[in-house]
Amino acid sequence: MKTMVLGVGAVGSVAAEVLANSGEFEQVVLADMNLERAKRVEKKISNDKVIVKKVDASDVDGMAKAFQGIDLVLNGVIPRFNLGIMDACLKAKASYADMAWDVALDTTKAGDVIKETPAWKQLKKDSEFKKAGLTGMMGLGCDPGLSNLFARLAADRLDKVKQILVRDGDNGTVEGHKFAPMWSPETLIEEVLMPATIYKNGAYRKLPPFSGKELFEFPEPVGRLPIYNVDHEEAETLPTFIGEVLGKGCDYCDFKIALDDSYVEAIQMIGMLGLSNPSKIDVKGAKVAPRDVVAACLPDPSTLGERATGTCAIGTVTKGVKDGKDVSYYSWIQLDHKDTFDRYGHSATAYSVGVPLAIASILFAQGKITQKGVFPPEMLEPEPWLPLLKKLGMPVHTLEQRRY
Ligand SMILES: NC(=O)c1ccc[n+]([C@@H]2O[C@H](COP(=O)([O-])OP(=O)(O)OC[C@H]3O[C@@H](n4cnc5c(N)ncnc54)[C@H](OP(=O)(O)O)[C@@H]3O)[C@@H](O)[C@H]2O)c1
Repeated sequence: MKTMVLGVGAVGSVAAEVLANSGEFEQVVLADMNLERAKRVEKKISNDKVIVKKVDASDVDGMAKAFQGIDLVLNGVIPRFNLGIMDACLKAKASYADMAWDVALDTTKAGDVIKETPAWKQLKKDSEFKKAGLTGMMGLGCDPGLSNLFARLAADRLDKVKQILVRDGDNGTVEGHKFAPMWSPETLIEEVLMPATIYKNGAYRKLPPFSGKELFEFPEPVGRLPIYNVDHEEAETLPTFIGEVLGKGCDYCDFKIALDDSYVEAIQMIGMLGLSNPSKIDVKGAKVAPRDVVAACLPDPSTLGERATGTCAIGTVTKGVKDGKDVSYYSWIQLDHKDTFDRYGHSATAYSVGVPLAIASILFAQGKITQKGVFPPEMLEPEPWLPLLKKLGMPVHTLEQRRY
């Protein structure tokens, strides 16, 4: 089986490395606009199954040509390109997987009900993928990705699901920086300042940014951190797919991320000053997007892995009913930043996202993922993931609580 990783940045390079060393693929193509970057990744992986190719994710016809003979295309570029990459996969008869979708496409105002979440732009390609006998896997990183699978793991054990709460916590710091996001600062600023999607009373709804502040007890050594509603993929599919498609029900779903006070202040200030604007403005004759300027002033996240300390814990609390009793499951993975960099040579952030994408590809190559069509992670069987996650240094922890 042949695979192509399109976009070998922080996350794509992790997935490519795991796949090249997995023994499951006869060829792993590293494709990027930036051929020099692809060559650097090829050199680091140092495996004769790996080749590089220049591919532009904005050129559907060019991609369709480049995808010929590839069984599975892994999308490691930003979500803006997802629909075009899926179209190219359909033309080339290649299956597809990504790690995120473009939640920013939703312009519903805070307080309103969402008519159609951005997830459906990709899900609408389901029948085309089915007709072509192809698999299209959405959102297979850490969160979304593992967070969705954790909800499925719990839903399989419950008779009825009531609430799904995704919780992302990180007490990491980077020496020498007060504000240094460990993944794309553009995405962080965008996600945090946008109204957040939640599911409540049978509808997807928007809440104001920075709403729903509470303290959440993450597993030690992360500990108790303040968390906020943030716009994220999970809350756009879990209620429909766990609730309706799998028939387990779901009354409420949200995604909350830990943000320390200085991050909240900094991002609020960026928003207040108009520095989150992604459109170009005129500055003394130069055309620049304020958000690009902010990102350019911050350290490159791909350089932070070796200087980060602390731990991240990403997981899902799923509450429901089993045999008439209230039961809740909290499943999570946790990674120490320094230990992950020392062991794998990648930041914990990139490693925790690239590994799930690689596992999905390995299970696909092994014939353990056979569904056709386009679907979110919760439509996959979670059990086969558990030994692979453990083998790759990301064991899943689960805490079960019963109330009698
Ligand atoms: N599910 C999760 O848990 C999770 C978490 C984090 C990230 N993600 C997602 O993972 C994806 C990758 O994130 P990342 O941090 O790895 O990003 P990244 O480091 O910026 O990597 C993206 C790569 O794509 C390349 N690229 C940009 N435009 C391209 C084009 N038109 N054609 C081909 N290649 C192009 C970039 O090159 P240049 O650098 O030269 O532009 C870079 O090498 C994103 O979709 C992100 O939203 C998911």
